Amino acid sequence: MERGRFITLEGGDGVGKSTQARRLVARLRAAGHECLATREPGGAPFAERLRTLLLEHGQEAATPLAEALVFNAARADHLAAAILPALERGVWVISDRFADSTRAYQGAAGGIDDAVLRRLEEIVVGPHRPDLTIILDLDPELAEARWRQRAREAADERGGALALDRFEREGRKFQARLRAEFLKIAAEDPGRCRVVDAGRSEDEVAEEVWRLVSEVLAP
Ligand code: TYD
Repeated sequence: MERGRFITLEGGDGVGKSTQARRLVARLRAAGHECLATREPGGAPFAERLRTLLLEHGQEAATPLAEALVFNAARADHLAAAILPALERGVWVISDRFADSTRAYQGAAGGIDDAVLRRLEEIVVGPHRPDLTIILDLDPELAEARWRQRAREAADERGGALALDRFEREGRKFQARLRAEFLKIAAEDPGRCRVVDAGRSEDEVAEEVWRLVSEVLAP
């Protein structure tokens, strides 16, 4: 049985990653590949419990190192319980975020020493790096405008207030640091990473993602 392929999508907030992940999975399935559509943090039962802890903003703020360790703990569980067994069964795994998000969010934007994060990545991910990582790149101002539009639509649907605004909470400098770090990761690992300009229409981005996947992972 041929091993499945492991593809991750990465990028800052509001770049359209989740939409593109969904479209890629639909297209792969239509082409006859069995797929596991997954995400981080989360993707396995224990990791999803850690996700709840990580993403609910309660009173108790985690220190950046504690947070980086919990993201890695979730990743260890996700790999062992979901990703690796699927790949072994020949299933293609498409993950909305993976290890590069820790380097960008906890490292470049959060201040944890990159050498520490690299060591953690070595321990947790080791040889199981993705076959292909698509980095969706977008000017943070454009990303923010798109994100606000979606948040407004979601609030209208629920008839409620706008969700807590991540762009206001973290600020534009944070988004700019994320963007720079994702581009740096791509430049350092050109064998695995491809950068896609996410400033175009959803259809155009989806076409480009599909072209890269076919080109890089053609059997
Ligand atoms: P989510 O609601 O899934 O947002 P998105 O659609 O942007 O992926 O929340 C995931 C959040 O967790 C997102 O803000 C990025 C952050 N994150 C980290 O800070 N470190 C990590 O290692 C991962 C995987 C995610």
